[in-house]
Amino acid sequence: MGTDLEKVLLSKEEIDAKLAELAAEIDRDYQGKDLLIVGVLKGAVMVMADLARALSTPVTMDWMAVSSYGAGTKSSGVVRILKDLDTDIAGRDVLIVEDIIDSGLTLSWLLSNLSSRGPASLQVCTLLRKPEAAKVAIDVKYVGYDIPNEFVVGYGLDYAEKYRNLPFVGTLAPHVYGG
Ligand code: PRP
Ligand code: MN
Ligand code: MG
Repeated sequence: MGTDLEKVLLSKEEIDAKLAELAAEIDRDYQGKDLLIVGVLKGAVMVMADLARALSTPVTMDWMAVSSYGAGTKSSGVVRILKDLDTDIAGRDVLIVEDIIDSGLTLSWLLSNLSSRGPASLQVCTLLRKPEAAKVAIDVKYVGYDIPNEFVVGYGLDYAEKYRNLPFVGTLAPHVYGG
């Protein structure tokens, strides 16, 4: 797997198995509903693609791209919309799909932004969450794996835009990011 990676944290098989579990819960919870799943670009691309195909419930899919600005650190919590939804979500059942919740600031902003548009319901599904990194408490209905506060890449997650296409989640060797 190359010297840039330290270890595999979650294999493709573990990811697939967890997404199947989450999909079964979502199928049950949204039975008979007209669900809109919203992927947060770019990290959530892999989770969206695989989760959507694991669902039996017919869904529509939309995407948002957001970026933080200001101090330049992604933890500023100040977010701007690079690509908004194409869908009017007023009265809709909406499920935000994320690859990872780190500080929680991106999602916290997104939740307040989307809830102001009057959806019938608004929930979150994330493959990964780092409880030790949380700066804000968020109520997340569907969580795949709680993971340690390590630098993880792969399966959509990047370091400087690299590693997103790895089929597994791995931890980055400290020498790569100067650790
Ligand atoms: C990453 C990740 C989440 C967010 C989590 O996205 O995909 O969207 O950070 O961090 P937080 O909980 O501390 O806000 P990033 O901003 O790196 O953009 P990307 O999805 O395009 O990689
Ligand atoms: Mn992201
Ligand atoms: Mg990123």
